[in-house]
Amino acid sequence: MSGFEPGDFKRRDFLRAVGVTGGAGAMFATMGALGLAPTAEAAAAEPAFTAPRASDFTLTGKAAAKIVIVGGGIAGLAAAYELGKAGYDCTVLEAQDRTGGRNLTVRGGDAVVDTYGTQQTARFSDGHYMNTGPARIPQWMITLDYCRELGVPLEVFTNVNASAYIHTSRTSGTASGGGPVRFRTAKADMYGYVSELLAKATDKGALDKELTADDRERLLEFLRDFGDIGGRVTGDPAKSWRYTGSTRRGYRVDPGAAGTPGTVLGPVPSVSDVLASGVGRAFSFEFGYEQAMLMYQPVGGMDRIPRALTRAVGERKIHTGAVVTRITEKTDGVTVTYTHQGRTRTLDADYCIAAMPPHLLARVPHNLGGAVQSALEACKPESAAKLGLEYRSRWWEDDHRIYGGITNTDLDVGVIWYPSYAFHAERGVVIGYYNFGRDADAYGKLSPKERERRAVAQGVKIHGPKYRTELLSSFSQHWRLMPHVEAAWHSLEGGPDAARYAALNKPAGRVYFAGDHLSHTVAWQHGAFASARKVVGEVHGRVLRG
Ligand code: ALA
Repeated sequence: MSGFEPGDFKRRDFLRAVGVTGGAGAMFATMGALGLAPTAEAAAAEPAFTAPRASDFTLTGKAAAKIVIVGGGIAGLAAAYELGKAGYDCTVLEAQDRTGGRNLTVRGGDAVVDTYGTQQTARFSDGHYMNTGPARIPQWMITLDYCRELGVPLEVFTNVNASAYIHTSRTSGTASGGGPVRFRTAKADMYGYVSELLAKATDKGALDKELTADDRERLLEFLRDFGDIGGRVTGDPAKSWRYTGSTRRGYRVDPGAAGTPGTVLGPVPSVSDVLASGVGRAFSFEFGYEQAMLMYQPVGGMDRIPRALTRAVGERKIHTGAVVTRITEKTDGVTVTYTHQGRTRTLDADYCIAAMPPHLLARVPHNLGGAVQSALEACKPESAAKLGLEYRSRWWEDDHRIYGGITNTDLDVGVIWYPSYAFHAERGVVIGYYNFGRDADAYGKLSPKERERRAVAQGVKIHGPKYRTELLSSFSQHWRLMPHVEAAWHSLEGGPDAARYAALNKPAGRVYFAGDHLSHTVAWQHGAFASARKVVGEVHGRVLRG
């Protein structure tokens, strides 16, 4: 398991990295505006979003409509927020007792009852929290635009830290016998040896078909710098281009004042050991368009975003604890039936935006047709889970000199996150697992206490006994077991534009569909915002056209 790789995300990350999808859109939009982009590429770009305005109705003879929004997660809230700017009469029905959906920050005193009926109450100290759902925001995502607009202050989220560890369990073939190695050390060795090998091959002429003589020298110059390797030793190819270690590995004794230059970390493992250890798996994560530093988080918890949206929409327009039981589309409107505090109620509106988890919407009786039903059923719920561990000391800072960032493991805990806030405070909350799929399900079957025990035993392998002895309390969040959510995210085979999902990308009469699953950034708030904006534009256009 590398940092983040659920389902087919890896391939799509790759496509994004080479600019086939996603972010290239913004670039092509700009090029299109300059008349430079070929039409197909311009078409792949999202049209610029203009929020509906009350003044749009001037001279049209039309008026803002009544909208019922099913689901008070990011997509539903964003739709209500944007439509509200033009005076639409929006009502949000949210099944949980709070808004935000999967954007859930857990603090001391917060309680969650899972679908097994197990209640957990967090005991984190004041000022400490865990973001159980979204927890990091890349710079290019529109989530940051909403933070700006809503006045949500941001701070850096450390996604990659040279001082964090890569833990490898593989012992066969490695002199080190596995265990944790610092990112910087693993990277220095891997980049060093890869550079050495490529330089040797290049200098031997193995790439002469691909490279001119000038190319070859330039590549060698790059590799010397990239891998921190030695140069050509004339007449001695074996001694040329060698990686023999580097200060990039880090120091056993750090450099100090004059007379104390420190001691570089050694010994340097052999190339075979480095390859056998498997540390190389951890490096491509930070190349991804979605995961590259710098990344951001709201100060005080990710739920600052839904809270700000909720305030902007207006609490009185949002009914929490409202569980939708039927959606009926009619020629002149939509009726949504729901239960609230044990009573059945109905709400009539001109249009409905269905922004709840698609596999749960599939269980709600409706008259939207078979194509909608099959498309909803084809959205496959995925598992992911996080465990927050509160410690009485910040031993990862004091003893390991790790200030934020992520340790990558090949254990069932997936990755371990150190907090990117409250540095040097007395206490702190570490994410003891963030795992997906089978690993998340395996932990999900255990009681909260057993989850803690199993994850702590894994963490001790990396961090030593303080991982257990300094622990105060834990809280685990398993999204497949979260009532009214029941998924961490959804995988849509072939992506949201595949034919089998077509019925969700257009209105079913007066019912529209929104959510991150209907975007090219599944499992990101950006996707929820983008999808909401698309639907808001469609609804507003339709109302204006009359
Ligand atoms: N977007 C989520 C993450 O970064 C899935 O982990």
